[in-house]
Amino acid sequence: MPITNSLPKDFSIVRLTTVVLEQYLDPLLKIDHEMLAERWSSEHFTSDYPGKWEASRLAFVDTEMVGYMIATFKMESVHVNRIAVGAAWRRSGIARLLLREVAQTAIVAGKPLVTLKVACQNKIARRFYQRCGFTVHSADDQNLSLQIVPQLLLVDTKTG
Ligand SMILES: CC(C)(COP(=O)(O)OP(=O)(O)OC[C@H]1O[C@@H](n2cnc3c(N)ncnc32)[C@H](O)[C@@H]1OP(=O)(O)O)[C@@H](O)C(=O)NCCC(=O)NCCS
Repeated sequence: MPITNSLPKDFSIVRLTTVVLEQYLDPLLKIDHEMLAERWSSEHFTSDYPGKWEASRLAFVDTEMVGYMIATFKMESVHVNRIAVGAAWRRSGIARLLLREVAQTAIVAGKPLVTLKVACQNKIARRFYQRCGFTVHSADDQNLSLQIVPQLLLVDTKTG
């Protein structure tokens, strides 16, 4: 477990494929079940959706899976359906790097936006998305719909 918020040298991000998913489904569910939001079953992860295998990623430190992002293609956006980082690895910049990956995917796919929904009560995630530059597109009693132009996710906000 890191005591600082810097990433180790053996950090990597891997594209989610059916083979990788089969191998890491158990740790994926474990991280997922640490989350505040409604739990996903294994079927949520294995189901096929447009763009899912292009846009989804797993994050590793050495061989340990430490975070993931499931994203799919919508008409005008790449939509982040799920993003989470294992509790021991939060505030290391991992989720921000996963969003950079989805931004690259959106640009390559010609999608003008990255979108997602966040529960109004999830203050940490709302703070995270705000820091990444997302703006509110719409809201209901329970959720905010957020969006950002993918190029903005590639700006290094720590230095520029
Ligand atoms: C939200 C979540 C994905 C963020 O992951 P993370 O890897 O810790 O985020 P990062 O380290 O990339 O954070 C980037 C910036 O977001 C902000 N941020 C992230 N977590 C924060 C927190 N707990 N408190 C305040 N700001 C926070 C900070 O500005 C941070 O930059 P800094 O550490 O240099 O100050 C993670 O907390 C998580 O997995 N939560 C549970 C699952 C969840 O709620 N997912 C979202 C569902 S919509």
